[in-house]
Amino acid sequence: MTAPTRLRPAEVSDLPFILRKELEYMKTVEPDAHQGWLAALDLNLEFWIECLPRTLFCVDDDGRQLGYAMWTLEGDSATLASIHILDSHRRRGLGRLLLEAFEQSAHPTGARVAKLGVHRNNQARLLYEAAGYEATGRDGDYVLFSKALGDPPNLLHAHPYFTSVKRVPSGSDRAERSMGSGSAAPIPTSE
Ligand SMILES: CC(C)(COP(=O)(O)OP(=O)(O)OC[C@H]1O[C@@H](n2cnc3c(N)ncnc32)[C@H](O)[C@@H]1OP(=O)(O)O)[C@@H](O)C(=O)NCCC(=O)NCCS
Repeated sequence: MTAPTRLRPAEVSDLPFILRKELEYMKTVEPDAHQGWLAALDLNLEFWIECLPRTLFCVDDDGRQLGYAMWTLEGDSATLASIHILDSHRRRGLGRLLLEAFEQSAHPTGARVAKLGVHRNNQARLLYEAAGYEATGRDGDYVLFSKALGDPPNLLHAHPYFTSVKRVPSGSDRAERSMGSGSAAPIPTSE
């Protein structure tokens, strides 16, 4: 890693950055789904807002946003919904840093397993495989991965940013969104 970086919780003012990067991802990795994703933009925005308490930002010394990871919690499963690093800062270990931060933030909230889905054309799968994730199947164009996190530690020692996370409700609206959003995975429906 060449420049000092730090992680911080996401803020409402990060939403434009998330929008720009998610759009960039859709155009480059999933161009065929781009139009459908745009049509569901209001639902995508709603989802990112819901995920803000579970979104971590990586920033440089000057506070400039370099990337983020967002996740959801369903029962004892934490799902990485999106991870993104600025094009100019890739292959410096920041993706790995955010992935580890996702696991470390999710574990104290009760997650025993970390899950994600990667589009079949996305080289990001190598990041997950290198971090110990194993492919468990397919969901359409996505390869599903998971990794056991073990038993949650004593909740009294949970990370302060994530002790009061709101569980994302499952239901038909989320199923509808599953086709349109998220860099890392289709938004999970109830399992
Ligand atoms: C996926 C992404 C977050 C990875 O971020 P990153 O900061 O480049 O990842 P890291 O530098 O921590 O990579 C760690 C390791 O993962 C693997 N890896 C990550 N990206 C890779 C790629 N595009 N091709 C091959 N291997 C890759 C490598 O083994 C790498 O180690 P190395 O550089 O020493 O070889 C970034 O490429 C990105 O934002 N992509 C666009 C959005 C996206 O596709 N998100 C993932 C959706 S599933």
